[in-house]
Amino acid sequence: MNDDPGAAGGTTRDNSVERDNWVERDRAVVWHGFTQMSTYADHHPVVVERAEGRELIGVDGRRYLDAISSLWVTTLGHCVPELDAALAAQLALGAHTTMLGNGNRIVVELSERLAAVVPVDGAHVIYASDGACAVEQSLKIAWQYHVNRGDARTSFLAFGGAYHGDTLGALSVGDRGFGTDIFDPLTFPVLRAPAFGEPGCFDRAVAMVAEHAADLAAVIVEPLVQGAAGMQLAAPDDLARRGRACRDLGVLLICDEVATGFGRTGTLFASEQCDLRPDLMCLGKGITGGSLAMSATVASDAVFSEFLGDDLGPRTFYHGHSYSGNALAAAVALRHLELIEAWNVLDNVRDRGEQLGALLHDRVASRAEVREVRRRGLMTGVELAPPSEGLRWGRRVSAACVDRGVLIRPLGDVIVVMPPLTVTSAEIHTIVDALVDALDQVAADDAADARALS
Ligand SMILES: Cc1ncc(COP(=O)(O)O)c(C=O)c1O
Repeated sequence: MNDDPGAAGGTTRDNSVERDNWVERDRAVVWHGFTQMSTYADHHPVVVERAEGRELIGVDGRRYLDAISSLWVTTLGHCVPELDAALAAQLALGAHTTMLGNGNRIVVELSERLAAVVPVDGAHVIYASDGACAVEQSLKIAWQYHVNRGDARTSFLAFGGAYHGDTLGALSVGDRGFGTDIFDPLTFPVLRAPAFGEPGCFDRAVAMVAEHAADLAAVIVEPLVQGAAGMQLAAPDDLARRGRACRDLGVLLICDEVATGFGRTGTLFASEQCDLRPDLMCLGKGITGGSLAMSATVASDAVFSEFLGDDLGPRTFYHGHSYSGNALAAAVALRHLELIEAWNVLDNVRDRGEQLGALLHDRVASRAEVREVRRRGLMTGVELAPPSEGLRWGRRVSAACVDRGVLIRPLGDVIVVMPPLTVTSAEIHTIVDALVDALDQVAADDAADARALS
């Protein structure tokens, strides 16, 4: 894969002028999310020209191992011929037709396949385009479910550290952060259980469900791993306990598997490891293997049935997006599910995850610069331990990894390592080598600065 002169870790061509031109054109017209545009260009962003396998190739010809799966979406790799063939075949049949009041064959086929694999009893699938919209749908469904039953419940319970997306409902159940506090006045209040990492988190969450059950529409949780909180982990038994409390008290359980779904934690869905049968499940990111925008909310038959009633009547779910159930995305998503099985992808996640865990344990975890390593499957966070505030270690260590040809994006001072599910053993070594070198470099730079000041 690295036979290009601009192989990962170093380039023999100096195309930096070309790259700078593209960065300038980019900066002039593109507004990047979660990015301060006045300093965007200073951080030497990678402008991708094409992608191949698990690598991205910049406009300057440099190659980067995509160790964050393009923000956690890429599963099998980029430009997978089998997925591209499914896309082309569907293109010939029509790219998109509306799901509002009408159907589409490929969407039926995908939904049948999804219904067979999601841990939801009697699954019914409603589609959207981004994870936040899947969450938004699930909150509205949970709300109306109780209204339709004549038992209006007005609150939601979510966890400290949670992240569920950027739309206002999703922001409300999320625990803010990332500079989003400015939108607080636009959000609605929710009951907040402690964050996963806090002692007694689940005892408290179970107690809160019991205390507020009469008014609680739903509990929303990221099963096993709170991704955006920096890969905070929860024990499967604790999640199972909290799931049982919801069921016993008639509180709906929403599992947000936007990040954990489609194999990242070693099973197709993280809920499976926690013995959870959620009433509502949010899917996104990896659903199409990372190639096309699609998300979905899966509702149990018990939930769905409460929406059945008179034509044009008030029990109807009055919600739906223009591109809901896009046929191209559905064709790719269907083929993607087949390939996960045919290629034994989950075995690779488990093997490579363990290899990554062992290497991080041996070479990274005990370093003075590292506070903790957290991992489930191929979702990994390396929390750094900077000696003082303001050193921006997360950003600097990531930048040093990028210089070495491994694309990393941190969450504050947590280095996220989340390679595609088909990552090879050699690529795992490449990622850990780059991280170790990057840590060496940042520690040495700080030591040199300290000497210069003394
Ligand atoms: C658990 C979880 N839910 C929802 C979202 C939002 O997904 P999207 O960015 O596709 O809107 C994310 C994004 O990181 C997520 O991690």
